[in-house]
Amino acid sequence: MSLDVKISDQACGAEVTGVDLTQPLSDAEILAIREVWLEHHVLSFPNQAMSDDDLEQFTLSFGGFGDDPFIAPIPGRNNIVAVKRTADEKVPVFADNWHTDWSFQENPPAGTCLFGIEIPPVGGDTLFANQHKALDDMPSELRQKLEGKMAIHSAALPYAPSGGYGDKDREMGRSMDIRASDEALAKQLHPIIRKHPETGREGIFGTFGYIIGIEGMEQQEGMKLLLELAGWQGQEQFQYQHKWKKDMLVMWDNRSVLHKATGGYQGHDRLLHRTTIAAYQA
Ligand code: SIN
Repeated sequence: MSLDVKISDQACGAEVTGVDLTQPLSDAEILAIREVWLEHHVLSFPNQAMSDDDLEQFTLSFGGFGDDPFIAPIPGRNNIVAVKRTADEKVPVFADNWHTDWSFQENPPAGTCLFGIEIPPVGGDTLFANQHKALDDMPSELRQKLEGKMAIHSAALPYAPSGGYGDKDREMGRSMDIRASDEALAKQLHPIIRKHPETGREGIFGTFGYIIGIEGMEQQEGMKLLLELAGWQGQEQFQYQHKWKKDMLVMWDNRSVLHKATGGYQGHDRLLHRTTIAAYQA
């Protein structure tokens, strides 16, 4: 087994070939992929004609399934959601704000796997922002303001019934099966600057959106700091812009990168199947 790894010339990301993801992976392959993943944070595997069974098997090779709230799984599966948009859909593009998946949970997922089924001929790239690099390059004045601070994470802004994907959005006919609920109002603290649980490398965890305040700071003051941080985190020099192809699997490390969807494909269908990888257990 020899993985062929082509490193992107952007702030993170690598393309991996030389492995067949439609077959069970050996322990050596899993270890090799994990190492490359921890180093480059976003891996793409082109030309993998994976079934939903293969996607589940791949996900389980890197940990258990994460707990995916607020989006109903596809029929017949408990752990796969469809990220989809139809050609004529009018609602805003799903997940087009920087975020790291389910950071409002006590134990957010280590990673996310996304598999391209129907890919539009234009647009629909996914952007990633390397949060180790964003911290390494951060001006010391901003870092000092963030050091030791705990962020208040919550799913309320998108997933409460009054939120962005709440009752109004549902009425507008989104094709994704999003189930907003009052459970989104729960809050969870995480350090803003924290060590990656596997590599120990420091990075920024989360961003404004799922972060709604900073513990011990007055709301307006906390928001001002969060917006300053958000302005820093997503800058182009920290980004990797991923271009999709059909039958491509992408896995990213939620502890190292932020990500967001982009539009630009109105008039075309887009469909991807997604799983999350549970938090790392040493
Ligand atoms: C997501 O955030 O899971 C969706 C990303 C995308 O649709 O490109």
